[in-house]
Amino acid sequence: MKIDLISILPEFFEALDLSLIGRAQQDGLLSIHRHNLREFTYDKHRSVDSPPAGGGAGMVMKPEPWALAMEHVLSRRETDPAGNSTQEHPVLIVPTPSGELFTQSRAEELSKKSHLVFAPGRFEGIDERFTSWAAERFDVRRLSIGDYVLNGGESAVIVMVEAITRLIPGVLGNEASLDEESHTDGLLEYPVYTKPAQWRGQHIPEILLSGNHARISAWRQTQAEERTQQIRPDLWQRYQSS
Ligand code: ADE
Repeated sequence: MKIDLISILPEFFEALDLSLIGRAQQDGLLSIHRHNLREFTYDKHRSVDSPPAGGGAGMVMKPEPWALAMEHVLSRRETDPAGNSTQEHPVLIVPTPSGELFTQSRAEELSKKSHLVFAPGRFEGIDERFTSWAAERFDVRRLSIGDYVLNGGESAVIVMVEAITRLIPGVLGNEASLDEESHTDGLLEYPVYTKPAQWRGQHIPEILLSGNHARISAWRQTQAEERTQQIRPDLWQRYQSS
């Protein structure tokens, strides 16, 4: 998978060079390219924002630097001898609190794409005309990581890149661990324990030490259901009706 990240703070994404995602890049499973949006500005101050049309608080990101950055990204795609792209439109993800909720099933869908481009805005967001322009060249998704507001989309990009790329075969050391995680089957994950069997007066539930895999599996299922019912009644309702 190829990922292009465009931002006025490209250093933000250095965290993606660490740990499993860093290794996946070294192993060639993933290539992540960071671009500085200011390199696509041509005025003296390299400005990327201006006051909102119609007045109001804050600043809005100008569409032109974003369009130039996107044209740069598109120009680096493979083309046939006639100059047409040989692949489907790349997915352009615009993180925004006013977008559709980013979920595990959205992460699964996006993990199968070959090229993702992220356009995290700062300030009050990007001029709306940029999204319409981009929709003719990209499969555009406006996505929110939750019902709260961040200072900019960069941390949302890190969250989404991590959730998506760990689903690419080979990125995690132990792929089996994906099957039993929270949200994979619509339930929260059951509680987990490790050695020692007794710790500061608390014991590991006996059944986990029984060696009886069928009973352990049934216990875990019940725990996952009880937990989901208590902590996330919304998920529990959806699980029951699916
Ligand atoms: N930018 C600011 N807040 C955000 C959120 N909750 N999700 C995605 N992008 C954002």
